[in-house]
Amino acid sequence: MAGTAEIILDGKTYQYPTIEGTEGEKAIDIAKLRDETGYITIDSGYKNTGATKSAITFLDGELGILHYRGYSIEDLAEKANFLEVAYLLIYGELPTTEQYSKFEHDIRTHTIVNEDMRRIFNGFPVNAHPMGVMSSLVSAMSGFYPDSYDDKAPDRTETHIIRLLAKFPTLATWCYKKSHGHPINYPKNSLDYCSNFLHMMFSLPVEDYHVDPIVSAALNKLLILHADHEQNCSTSTVRLVGSSKANIYSSISAGISALWGPLHGGANQEVIEMLEEIKADGGDVMKFVNKAKDKNSGFRLMGFGHRVYKNFDPRARIIKKAADDILGKLGVNDPVLEIAKGLEEAALHDDYFVSRKLYPNVDFYSGIIYRALGIPTNMFTVMFALGRLPGWIAQWKEMRANKEPIGRPRQIYTGATDRPFVPMAER
Ligand code: SDX
Repeated sequence: MAGTAEIILDGKTYQYPTIEGTEGEKAIDIAKLRDETGYITIDSGYKNTGATKSAITFLDGELGILHYRGYSIEDLAEKANFLEVAYLLIYGELPTTEQYSKFEHDIRTHTIVNEDMRRIFNGFPVNAHPMGVMSSLVSAMSGFYPDSYDDKAPDRTETHIIRLLAKFPTLATWCYKKSHGHPINYPKNSLDYCSNFLHMMFSLPVEDYHVDPIVSAALNKLLILHADHEQNCSTSTVRLVGSSKANIYSSISAGISALWGPLHGGANQEVIEMLEEIKADGGDVMKFVNKAKDKNSGFRLMGFGHRVYKNFDPRARIIKKAADDILGKLGVNDPVLEIAKGLEEAALHDDYFVSRKLYPNVDFYSGIIYRALGIPTNMFTVMFALGRLPGWIAQWKEMRANKEPIGRPRQIYTGATDRPFVPMAER
């Protein structure tokens, strides 16, 4: 329901319309603020600022609710498959059988990567971080599909979407294979999305490889849980870059770079490294809880806290349960799982975390499952990106469909005021 907000500035009253979303979120529309008052707003980190209106994902941080296009994350993680969820996010509805089989067939038949991409890939050192490699390779895809940035070319966005979804897994597995000195695998069109990824990751030419359905199902669930999360740092990056009419490959590449940061998707790698450090240190979780409370330590409990969730991250709740289930089924006994549970228990009974509403987020338990699936730590954030890819695509597509203006925030200047140039000899 629309309403009005009144702002009094320099003794004058201004009125601005308010808007309300379908889930009751409210905003003040300040589109005319600067023209009418000369003022802008400032909000470091955009903690109170909406960048757009979106129909894709809804979060309720207080209640710990996450919906993709109106469907609960609990339902989707339990009942859907990842490509079904990708279709839902990108096209707005769950696919019919016919829509799904076409979408899935198109993806299966685009999984091969141009062999010349191999020359770019081979230029990276063996220890290059996979997130840097993936950001580069996805950006390089624009070079192989120049119609993606040629305004005069017919719009082939749907083909570029299929190419991204199809080729990202192939490129991701190249990173893993090279780091092990193993030959890369070509995709197999006979396999489903998750099984094909696992085949490209783990099969070797010297023996038969059979995808464990438990592992494939676990991967499917993890990818669904990471698929979108409204205007997070990397998604906002994809939208901002895309708002300049940059092509979809370079926009997604920018999102991969943003996700790499340890405060964002890179946290899943940092969590495991933190848990391993606690294990090596004797498993004293309280020591690390206290270290995280000490501002001078520079240490944070990675995988804890969230800009929006001031309650349990619903994804963390699902992943924690899945970790027990999957490790049990696989017969994996990973001591860091118990350390993670102990750390969670200790933090959630400590006033520092309780008062700041710091709960485990999606990254806290995910690495424990990735590790049980045989995925190395430096590939964890690539797995996050693989899951988030349909969300980035959906948000980019929505931004373009809504013809949103180029993103260009204002600022308050705090530097030197006007002054004359002084020749170097006189400085
Ligand atoms: C993701 O936005 C999304 O949706 C992201 C994501 C997605 O799906 O896209 O959900 C994925 O990025 C999850 C977050 C992964 N990052 C981490 O786990 C890194 C550790 N967590 C944080 O650094 C932090 O909690 C953030 C970055 C997640 C959120 O930071 P905010 O909202 O800017 O909060 P803040 O840094 O201002 O912290 C508020 C207070 C501060 O203390 P005070 O200044 O009030 O005394 O809480 C403290 C912080 O010092 N704090 C922590 C902490 N997180 C916040 N203290 C110890 N350990 C932590 N993990």
